[in-house]
Amino acid sequence: MCGIVGYIGTRDCVELLLSGLESLEYRGYDSAGIAVLDDNGISIRKEKGRLSGLREILESRPLHGNIGIGHTRWATHGVPSAKNSHPHTNQDGTIAVVHNGIIENHEALKKFLIEKGYNFVSETDTEVIPNLIDYYYEGDLLTAVRKAAKKLDGSYAIGVIAAAEPDRIIAVRKDSPLIVGLTDDGNFIASDIPAILSETRDVYLLNDGEFVTLKKDSVAICDIDENPISKEIYRVQFSAQASQKEGYDHFMLKEIHEQPQAIRNTLRGRIDKDLNIVLDNIEFSDDIKKIFIVACGTAYHAGLVGKKAIETLAKIPCEVCLASEFRYGEPLINKDTAVLVVSQSGETADTLAVLRMAKKLGNKVYAITNVVGSSVAREADYVFYTYAGPEIAVASTKAYTTQLVAFYLFAIYFAEKRKTVPNHVLSDLKNQLLKMDEVAEKILEKAPEIREIAKSLADEHDIYFLGRGLDYIVAMEASLKLKEISYIHSDAYASGELKHGPIALIDDGTVVISICTNPDISNKLSSNVKEVLARGAKTIGFTSCMSDTAAYGDIVELPQIDPLLAPLPAIIPLQMLAYYVCTEKGFDVDKPRNLAKSVTVE
Ligand code: F6R
Repeated sequence: MCGIVGYIGTRDCVELLLSGLESLEYRGYDSAGIAVLDDNGISIRKEKGRLSGLREILESRPLHGNIGIGHTRWATHGVPSAKNSHPHTNQDGTIAVVHNGIIENHEALKKFLIEKGYNFVSETDTEVIPNLIDYYYEGDLLTAVRKAAKKLDGSYAIGVIAAAEPDRIIAVRKDSPLIVGLTDDGNFIASDIPAILSETRDVYLLNDGEFVTLKKDSVAICDIDENPISKEIYRVQFSAQASQKEGYDHFMLKEIHEQPQAIRNTLRGRIDKDLNIVLDNIEFSDDIKKIFIVACGTAYHAGLVGKKAIETLAKIPCEVCLASEFRYGEPLINKDTAVLVVSQSGETADTLAVLRMAKKLGNKVYAITNVVGSSVAREADYVFYTYAGPEIAVASTKAYTTQLVAFYLFAIYFAEKRKTVPNHVLSDLKNQLLKMDEVAEKILEKAPEIREIAKSLADEHDIYFLGRGLDYIVAMEASLKLKEISYIHSDAYASGELKHGPIALIDDGTVVISICTNPDISNKLSSNVKEVLARGAKTIGFTSCMSDTAAYGDIVELPQIDPLLAPLPAIIPLQMLAYYVCTEKGFDVDKPRNLAKSVTVE
């Protein structure tokens, strides 16, 4: 996730680019930069950190011009640094590029270009683009960009300027968003509407494979073979402010809805066309006898699902530990164990402390994290990134589901290596995983029905969640989501434990929400639900086992997929339930009281 913007017209472009980038900072904010073209050629200012840092640099070293491109970065390849920031240029600085997306074949392209005598200065995938354009440049920028695009695998929205053609910006998109904004005194490109909304509501919404030649008084769109494409102007209906959340009322809702894309991004390149699992450059020793999975909060719940998946498929014993407990315990770490930390932010103090402790004790540390360049990412021996994109709401949603994707990939990978499960079983799981984005999309359609249930829960003081096996973990995560944003007291119980104490809490009207995704144990769960029903509970079921539904008042139907994978789609309607209960109560969804997105103190 990054944001790009470009302007060509009669006005000075610098402030226009900066204010555009400000509106795109939600897409990433670990570095920012602009390139401006004037009579002296292309000048660049870029800096690690927030846009405010770039503004300061521009105050001391100003730029002026009528044509420029800008970028705010959420690092994927290469740590956040001035060197890795965009815009990137060819070697002599005559072609500058901003890019959002990932060039999957950048290694091969880099090798090709190095053989042709090109040098690279950054660790990014993007830097191949200006050099490839340079390689193909023979006096026409559009042709060179088209030729370069033919060689690029992956996703991209690109804006390009060249000193030799100071009257145009060339742009193209594939699997990354890009729009064109039209005004009387110039034209824009941008990753998203918010970037240009203060200037215009008239836009072209570009499709994949469309190339744009943006001039100060014209916009021409064509396909890869330069066939012209005509487009209707789209008039934006919403305000600049609302659009910062892309039309969603809250970041949490937006992030819930981003899950299909986040799942796709996390899977991309990790299961190849022959169904082989590609775990980046992560190496696991065959001698690992036990994995300690260590995390906090929601990431801990992801670890619990991970344990079940790894133990079920790969038969490697796992112990899931709260980082805050693990660091003060006496964990039996030795040369046969591995420590796997899970952290969305990569900055959680306790998780980081465990990472350091394990390294000190000589263990290899693996990390699942969402933030490139975070402390966890920098210090772990091996890192698996969830490409969920920036998660802004405090309550974690898309980071969690992508952590589950990571664990499923690990579990299947280990099982394949250790030959613990027949291949056809693993292939089936992989195929189901590849369709998980569609499953998530479908379940999001249940929002209206969940909203109705949420309305009936807003005045409750206590809500209990029940489940067995993996469904118990879903119940734990659902309970955390609900309590952290709605402030309703909530607990989750393994349904078999009810009679050992918690059933004493059940009274007339007590709300009990049950999760059931495993047909093999559904009758056990429904017996427990009937027990609470008999004691006056108001029962709600989130279930894919529709054979025994008599015990539930309200029912939300879950998709029927392999029970091992079921926790992933099952949590989505429960995230929505927490969200709608919170909005019903009128609380601050994105910034719940007493909480912060990243817990950097003990
Ligand atoms: C709950 C939530 C927290 C985090 C926890 C760990 O919705 O977001 O429980 O999961 O603070 O944070 P990370 O994953 O950044 O280490």
